[in-house]
Amino acid sequence: MSDVLEFAGVSVIRGGKALLDGVDWQVREGQRWVVMGPNGAGKTTLLQIASGRMHPTRGTAGILDEVLGAVDVFELRPRIGLASAALANQIPEDETVLNVVLTASYGMTGRWREKYEKMDERRAFRLLDAWGVSTLMNRRFSSLSEGERKRVQIARALMTDPELLLLDEPAAGLDLAGREDLLQRLGQLARDEDAPAMVLVTHHLEEVPPGFTHALLLREGGVVAAGPIDEVFTEENLSNAFDLPLSLRRDAGRYAAVAAARS
Ligand SMILES: Nc1ncnc2c1ncn2[C@@H]1O[C@H](COP(=O)(O)OP(=O)(O)O)[C@@H](O)[C@H]1O
Ligand SMILES: [Mg+2]
Repeated sequence: MSDVLEFAGVSVIRGGKALLDGVDWQVREGQRWVVMGPNGAGKTTLLQIASGRMHPTRGTAGILDEVLGAVDVFELRPRIGLASAALANQIPEDETVLNVVLTASYGMTGRWREKYEKMDERRAFRLLDAWGVSTLMNRRFSSLSEGERKRVQIARALMTDPELLLLDEPAAGLDLAGREDLLQRLGQLARDEDAPAMVLVTHHLEEVPPGFTHALLLREGGVVAAGPIDEVFTEENLSNAFDLPLSLRRDAGRYAAVAAARS
């Protein structure tokens, strides 16, 4: 079985503070992971490493059977699809929706003089269509609603047919209908056997799409629990990660948590 991610003792130290602290984590083909933890727990930092955009201060990060530090990250990055707020912020004001998806083939965020094949354009269109936003292809990305933008970003992340898909808080800022629509689409992708391995970051249990198989709980850069989702999402583990007694509900593959009633 090949390894998608193999982190051993991964630490990231900045200004004397451990943003990640000795993280051991394995992601295998076909798995769909949720990474959860409170604000500042190190989730985005973890994805920065998983996407080959940051190196650990200590420890080793294996990505798609390569080791970070011993591989050309520019060869590695097209094999990984990433959707994050930081990446979206790099998209130029006047970029069209079609170009936002198309430029992913070159690992760029703004179209310059590259020539794209008809085949690339067809693929970009098909992805926009699959995510329900193909009618917007000639609109400026900056003119879209938050929900539309999120779907365009996921289409972009899938453009290179990646082996690993990383989504950093894909449902952040969406209204209820937008969130539910996105989670349903992500749930379909999660159940698709041909879809890449997936890692989705969130700090809301309600934003976990159905069909996700594994979970990693982070607190202050350290792993609280990791493994099959039903073993990790327990009241004890979640209360520990969020430092608050929580009461957990699970219904039809979806989760919800509220503060436990004080006795
Ligand atoms: N370059 C940096 N230098 C110092 N602290 C940082 C740096 N980048 C992030 N942090 C801090 O590290 C912690 C973890 O950040 P992050 O990975 O973004 O957390 P999360 O995505 O879980 O909210 C936060 O407290 C953040 O303020
Ligand atoms: Mg974050």
